[in-house]
Amino acid sequence: MTLWGGRFEKKINPDAWQLNSSLEVDHRLAEEDVRGSLAWAKALRDAKVLDENDYKQISTGLLQIQKEFEEGSFEFLENDEDIHSAVERRLGQLIGSSAGKLHSGRSRNDQVATDFRLWAIRAIDQLVNLFRELQVVFVDRAESDFGVILPGYTHTQRAQPILLSHWWLAHFWAFQRDIERLQETLQRTSVLPLGSGAVAGTTFPIDRAELAKELGFEKVAPNSIDAVADRDFVAEVLFCVALAGVHLSRLSEAVILFSSTEFGFFTLDDTFSTGSSLMPQKKNPDLFELGRGKSGKLIGLLCGFMTTLKGLPSAYDKDLQEDKAALFNAYDTIRTLLPALKGALQTLHLNPERMSAALDDSLFATDLADYLVERGVPFRHAHELVGQAVRIAEKEGIHLSKVPFQQYRELDEHFEEDLYQVFNPWRSIERRNAFGGTAPEAVREQLRLARQICSLTE
Ligand code: ARG
Repeated sequence: MTLWGGRFEKKINPDAWQLNSSLEVDHRLAEEDVRGSLAWAKALRDAKVLDENDYKQISTGLLQIQKEFEEGSFEFLENDEDIHSAVERRLGQLIGSSAGKLHSGRSRNDQVATDFRLWAIRAIDQLVNLFRELQVVFVDRAESDFGVILPGYTHTQRAQPILLSHWWLAHFWAFQRDIERLQETLQRTSVLPLGSGAVAGTTFPIDRAELAKELGFEKVAPNSIDAVADRDFVAEVLFCVALAGVHLSRLSEAVILFSSTEFGFFTLDDTFSTGSSLMPQKKNPDLFELGRGKSGKLIGLLCGFMTTLKGLPSAYDKDLQEDKAALFNAYDTIRTLLPALKGALQTLHLNPERMSAALDDSLFATDLADYLVERGVPFRHAHELVGQAVRIAEKEGIHLSKVPFQQYRELDEHFEEDLYQVFNPWRSIERRNAFGGTAPEAVREQLRLARQICSLTE
């Protein structure tokens, strides 16, 4: 039995049924569907559409259905078109004809939008928690790896020395923005569509503000046409997740590079790496490669759904049914990705000696230019002079710190014997102590902020 059989003489074709039905995907809204119906039944009773007796029967039946879902004993039937039809069909089996009164003034259009928003509100909450847990890993690593120095790279070329803790925290802030974006999205998700009917609103005197309160929505959708059409919240969560996926991908790429034999800064723990079926020596960063690779899918889900939305003329169209598969898929992807990446980062082994071996003299070229600036040379000119020193070092095949003083002096008279003190990673790092820099002092302050955000005590 479908919810719409009356006007048809013949039964729907099986292939058409197959395409049309969405139960396989939207059964995940079971809990929300029952919650929404319980609240709707109450609103109908308050509006005097249901009498006390009908209301009691309906709510008792719905609670029974809720229990069946919880216990896993709810039986879906082949004729259930979607989760809404399944719940209504079961209610009829349990309480008989008064089940038919529940759908008064309601359409599946406002019903599904309500259910899915309820689901998304919970999902956002869980995504925020997952990203928080990842942030705590960065905070912990920044604490425990304090004092380790490595080259900071720009253009994948050695640039300037940095604290590893500073590098960990760089990732912390990217996920902080993801969390904030999700929290902002939550405000626009927490808007009640129920009471909008199919498109024009409902004829019954429903107190929608009360209904919103009952279901925990912050606001009530002010336009019934928009309420059944609006899937911005889906696109927004997909975007939040896609961008977080890009952050995960960039982090993964860095870890893959740093754990290659060529860099050798990190070694993956056995418990979070995989081997090769052919080459016995291999220890592969598969998890991080998946961290990088899955972002492609997350971006694809966003683009796909935006494309679905762009051509829809008004209100509800069945195209919108595609929203659930997209969001469930994105959500599930993050749910499997994050715990594994979290563990892999927590257990990552460091090779500090490989990191300090990579701190060649070229990394102090900026410090040498700053040295001249402090002695009155305009920065542009200082940059040029140090560039010449780099050229000399390269030509003679020696390190910048081994270029004889005589030669520095020939370049410019502002060079003094003490110039060689710039070739010291700690000096270089400690001097960058303005807020946001890599000096231990500044990183400590950053860490304090990060801990505060994660509600971690000192
Ligand atoms: N399964 C549908 C969906 O997910 C429910 C709404 C159907 N509404 C309708 N008028 N056919 O969008």
